[in-house]
Amino acid sequence: MEPGMLALLGRTISLMENLGFLWVVQTGFKLELWGELEERKSLEDLLALHPTWDRVLLDHWLEQAFCQDLLSKDSLSYKLSKLGKAIQTYRSQGLEAMYQEFVVHWSPGFARLPELITGQTEKTIFGSEMEEELISKASLASEPFVWPFLRNNCQKNKWQHILDIGCGEGIYLNKLMESFPSLQGVGIEINPTVAERAQNNTHSWGERLKIICGDALDLSQDLGTFDVCLLNNNIYYFSREQRESLLNNLKKILKPTGQIGILTALRESGNQSQRIFRTHIPQNLMSFFIACHQGFLGLPAEGEIRELLQQTGYTDIEVIPLPFRISHYFFARYAGLKTS
Ligand SMILES: C[S@@+](CC[C@H](N)C(=O)[O-])C[C@H]1O[C@@H](n2cnc3c(N)ncnc32)[C@H](O)[C@@H]1O
Repeated sequence: MEPGMLALLGRTISLMENLGFLWVVQTGFKLELWGELEERKSLEDLLALHPTWDRVLLDHWLEQAFCQDLLSKDSLSYKLSKLGKAIQTYRSQGLEAMYQEFVVHWSPGFARLPELITGQTEKTIFGSEMEEELISKASLASEPFVWPFLRNNCQKNKWQHILDIGCGEGIYLNKLMESFPSLQGVGIEINPTVAERAQNNTHSWGERLKIICGDALDLSQDLGTFDVCLLNNNIYYFSREQRESLLNNLKKILKPTGQIGILTALRESGNQSQRIFRTHIPQNLMSFFIACHQGFLGLPAEGEIRELLQQTGYTDIEVIPLPFRISHYFFARYAGLKTS
């Protein structure tokens, strides 16, 4: 067989395997099968619990989940494997939202790519499920990598007042409040449903933390002043002009030598050889998907963020790649000079 054909077959088979993984995992979430299979169960046990379900399809689901190493099998019964247990454990930390995004939004979104590229159809806008649920929840998946870094920075720089712009579910504010008892914070979130969840998630901090439902492009000076302003996983929402205006406005509410922290996945970043997985695929696909929507240009490149910080007068720029080198944290200081 011609080597090109062999390589293509290999890619196609691994594509089918990956698609199978995606569909099996997401179906398991939707039907709560991961929870039910924490205890060993046979097809008959599951059908007894769900008498109206399709026997043939459920049998195929179990077989596929076993082939994908998500279930272990003992004669006729199945139970979560180590990988299956990880799925169940990690589901509310962004995984379930991410898989829902892939199946329900990425697949039909990319199916329109020929018409989008040729301009035969208009780019869509993110629908309510994406805006109100999935975007902020899928973002929780980066927390295990981001949090240790954020905690160290808070300790090292002795932050006392923190502003979290586009705070989503409020996860970082929550963890910071918990770990640093004298810290006070404000979170700004534009989406009312997400802001309400952030308020519920963080209400125990009382006066120490305020969640405001509002637009970061419309910052009020009454917010107070801050040692640090975080823009976590949302710089791609803002156009180039909006980023400049936002960063200039933040200078008015940063304390002298206050810091800005921009966390973002990058479209291109650094040296391939330093990667754990030598691929740009995860973030490039994310960028590609975002760019299929009206008003979005995809993820930024490292140089774009550096240039933005320099142009808006921030100094001491540090770029920290987080594990897997998909997300990067950019930290910079504002020297406190008078702005126009
Ligand atoms: C991907 S989520 C990230 C949430 C959180 N920062 C995190 O890292 O987990 C981006 C969030 O930014 C919010 N957002 C987008 N544009 C905004 C704006 N102009 N003002 C305030 N929030 C905004 C979105 O509604 C969304 O909840």
